[in-house]
Amino acid sequence: MTEITYYGHSSFLVKIGDKQIVFDPFISPNTKASHIDVSKIIADYVLLSHGHEDHVADAEAIVKNNNAMLVSNYEIAVWFAEKGVEKYHPMNHGGSKTFDFGKVKYVNAVHSSTLPDGASGGNPGGFVIKHAHGCFYYAGDTALTYDMKLIGEEFKIDFAFLPIGDNFTMGIHDAIKAADFVGTKKIIAMHFDTFPYIEIDLEDAKKAATKAGKELILLNIGESITL
Ligand code: NI
Ligand code: MN
Repeated sequence: MTEITYYGHSSFLVKIGDKQIVFDPFISPNTKASHIDVSKIIADYVLLSHGHEDHVADAEAIVKNNNAMLVSNYEIAVWFAEKGVEKYHPMNHGGSKTFDFGKVKYVNAVHSSTLPDGASGGNPGGFVIKHAHGCFYYAGDTALTYDMKLIGEEFKIDFAFLPIGDNFTMGIHDAIKAADFVGTKKIIAMHFDTFPYIEIDLEDAKKAATKAGKELILLNIGESITL
């Protein structure tokens, strides 16, 4: 069982066993997430898919408040190390590493990754997390790509965090295909409605998912579910 809490945009807290993993925290600048108190978030790990501000904004605060481990690609991990983050783990595409909550594989994403100050954030990625009770995919920001089929071949994915906001990433129709490629019926939606560019018709998205035989999970900000 995995407990998931939504913090808005592409930010989630995932509890695996007794470990708490935060993905792409963008909370304090998000007016829609003003009821989430970043200083109260408890994390053992912070995983960052790429360097964009709307994915890393609260990473430094959460990592430092908790003495948590920051995991990302090499360029992003080193950028945070230079800001005084002491526990960090750099990865790159195709690489896997076992942590005390499970095994993380850093996989391809088709996007960009410049850091907030203009520094190179390397190449963007996503994560596949295989742990004692299951396996899931966190796509980060990405277009639909055939590389996702490799994830479906290698892993038995229980559910996938996929962007559905279109414009900067996949929209719902490509996200449905992505779910097919990785081999899951359960999509946890992210990267929609935060900004005008990515506002979408949620009823249309739900209908498209239902028609395709997918379960589209749309969480309210602050809501938790167990999968
Ligand atoms: Ni991005
Ligand atoms: Mn983004």
